[in-house]
Amino acid sequence: MRVIIRKTYEEMSKEAALLIKDRMMKKKDIVLGLATGSTPLGLYKELIRMHKEEGLSFKNVKTFNLDEYYGLEPTHPQSYRYFMDTNLFNHIDIEKSNTYVPDGKAEDVEKYCQWYEEQIKKAGGIDLQVLGIGRDGHIGFNEPGSSFYSRTRLVALDEQTIKDNSRFFKSIDEVPRFAITMGVGTILEAKEIILLANGKNKAKPVAQFIEGPITSLVPATALQLHPKVTVFLDEEAASELKRIDYYKFTENSSKQLKKEIWL
Ligand code: F6R
Repeated sequence: MRVIIRKTYEEMSKEAALLIKDRMMKKKDIVLGLATGSTPLGLYKELIRMHKEEGLSFKNVKTFNLDEYYGLEPTHPQSYRYFMDTNLFNHIDIEKSNTYVPDGKAEDVEKYCQWYEEQIKKAGGIDLQVLGIGRDGHIGFNEPGSSFYSRTRLVALDEQTIKDNSRFFKSIDEVPRFAITMGVGTILEAKEIILLANGKNKAKPVAQFIEGPITSLVPATALQLHPKVTVFLDEEAASELKRIDYYKFTENSSKQLKKEIWL
């Protein structure tokens, strides 16, 4: 794991965008795993800027989103398909047919989830997965207790997640109770992972998943089992970490040696 801490949300987002750009330059037909929510908005804004001002092209890129609310039409303003279109895809040169977001209206959900997994495999697997983290430590919509071997499936959302996500809906009653999400096992198969977190309310789950014991009660702790994870934090989200000095030393050494150093 590597932990990169920046003063502000903007700096953190730009740093994460630089990593994505670097990987895209190395592999033009990269397969990206993408997340929704408030956290990656700054990152997507920066990628759009890079596309418009620096010619960063998404022509050969494929994307797979982590999750979607179950029951929402793709045209629903709170659906994750709508989110991705309006916050990223409509502003870059990606082929829409290369963008996959789970279908919240899938009839045979089990079969659909299998199909989604097959599409990831057919694309050659996810090269770089982008994650946020929930206040309860969830990744994707894998709530506390999710199996580390779980695959794409239908899940029930936790009370905490429903409350947290009600800010996007007119009332809490409108928040869907179920979702389709890639599993923890699916996420761990990505060749590389980045997780972004900002703000004081993420400080606890961040400290838990980076420095705490591995437990399915904090699903993000599964990332300790992956060899190539970079965590991008602002200072507030990093505020409960114990080994900040070491993470900073590692980052500085990495710059001096011009080599990536992984914990
Ligand atoms: C969204 C997702 C979730 C969010 C998490 C944090 O696709 O997979 O795990 O990353 O709920 O959400 P925000 O960024 O809104 O705090």
